[in-house]
Amino acid sequence: MSHTLVIFGASGDLTSRKLIPALYKLAERGRLPGELRVIGFSRTPMSDEAWRAALAESTAKFLGARFQREAWNQFAAGIHYHPGDISQTEDFAKLAEQLDKLEGGKPTARVYYLATAPQFFEPAIEALGASGLATEEGKLNSPCRRIVIEKPFGTDLASAQRLNEVVHRFFTERQVYRIDHYLGKETVQNILVFRLANAIFEPVWNRNYVDHVQITAAEEVKVGRRGGYYDHAGVLRDMFQNHLLQLLTVTAMEAPARFNADAVRNEKVKVLEAIRPMTAVEVATNTVRAQYQGYRQEKDVAPDSQTATFADVRLDIDNWRWQGVPFYLRSGKAMGCRTTQIVIQFREPPLRLFGNGGAARQEANRLVIHIQPAEGIQLHFHTKVPNREVDTRETTLDFRFDSFYGDALPDAYERLLLDVLSGDQSLFARSDEVELAWGIIDPILTAWKMGGQPPLWQYEPGMWGPPGSSDWMQVMGRHWLDVCPVLKHVDGGESE
Ligand code: BG6
Repeated sequence: MSHTLVIFGASGDLTSRKLIPALYKLAERGRLPGELRVIGFSRTPMSDEAWRAALAESTAKFLGARFQREAWNQFAAGIHYHPGDISQTEDFAKLAEQLDKLEGGKPTARVYYLATAPQFFEPAIEALGASGLATEEGKLNSPCRRIVIEKPFGTDLASAQRLNEVVHRFFTERQVYRIDHYLGKETVQNILVFRLANAIFEPVWNRNYVDHVQITAAEEVKVGRRGGYYDHAGVLRDMFQNHLLQLLTVTAMEAPARFNADAVRNEKVKVLEAIRPMTAVEVATNTVRAQYQGYRQEKDVAPDSQTATFADVRLDIDNWRWQGVPFYLRSGKAMGCRTTQIVIQFREPPLRLFGNGGAARQEANRLVIHIQPAEGIQLHFHTKVPNREVDTRETTLDFRFDSFYGDALPDAYERLLLDVLSGDQSLFARSDEVELAWGIIDPILTAWKMGGQPPLWQYEPGMWGPPGSSDWMQVMGRHWLDVCPVLKHVDGGESE
């Protein structure tokens, strides 16, 4: 089957840094499902050749030694450019003509990728609908039309519902692919394989053995050039509503009866439905918010900004598996190191028999799923220290993707683009999923906006958030695992 991928927002960063390198790598490895044509749609006037040359340069820069000129030239022959303005209906009519011409009447699946700024999502969808480009019916030679929508999908529940409504006016849910690039990460997909392809973890993956779960997405970077966007979004919209809640759902969901898009997404939806909604009073005790020092001096940030660049959120899942097991989510910019990790903190053994006459508190077992930049899994457990009577020491069993599988893991966009082209929606958020996620985040946003509790702390860049974050955990009798990821190579050497 032949495919045409139309990228709206072709001159943007996402296209040159992520989409084109991912498509090129798929083409180079021969993984594309048939012939692929890429059409860039953007306002900047440009010829096909000029766009190809610009993309060759950015892709080579992005991929370094993994860029091969010959393979690129072959791939680039299928790249075209169509200058156009999303607000001009006649530009879509011209696009339709160009598509028909390029496809030459061959049965072709079309994918429209909205890689634009979010304010253009609705007009682009409406223009696609009005110009007949979304229609599948009655088109013998045009088997399917799909639409990919980048994040953010709305800025709150009401806007997400409105966007879904506009999408569904022209596209059925089966045609829609809402991107959350975290789901494209191999290490995130591996959570389900780890849980569901191994029988030994299931019996302990519940309230009987798990004390709590920590999900951390710490970033070293500050807001950089994105101050204008970030100051309106803040950490809850930027990281929690999408990425952190996705990590939570894959960690907490039940096993689906089958591994297909709807069965998997039904289970994720059930988790979101079971998350206890927070009242304003609970927001005060269940969340921490903070801003890094110097944030207000960043470009395009309001000098009196109240935007949080760091947050902790405690969520409780009211179902049989997780009742009484808090999920602590934390994310921030300008933190000590870059790490995304999920910690399954198990309960302590019922009796303390070893170490200091049995009185000393030992760390209970912990399973750490390292999403990035270390990619692997680590199980923390106790062993006997040799030559001492009954002293114990915490040790780890480590699995690292790179040392076991060799190659660097592919970029998340490779997998996601491949799935869009092959029509697999498993790794994309469904409309109800997105709305439920907003339903969890909205009450926090509202309570924070009203001011008051919790206070907006400041934190020093390079720290694990404000001291108030550790105090908050301590009040609940727990502590964050503040460790920059170190996983051992299987040969025994350690590396970051
Ligand atoms: C994006 C956020 O969705 O995810 C960014 O808008 C954030 O602010 C990024 O830096 C993190 O993605 P990753 O893959 O680098 O963890």
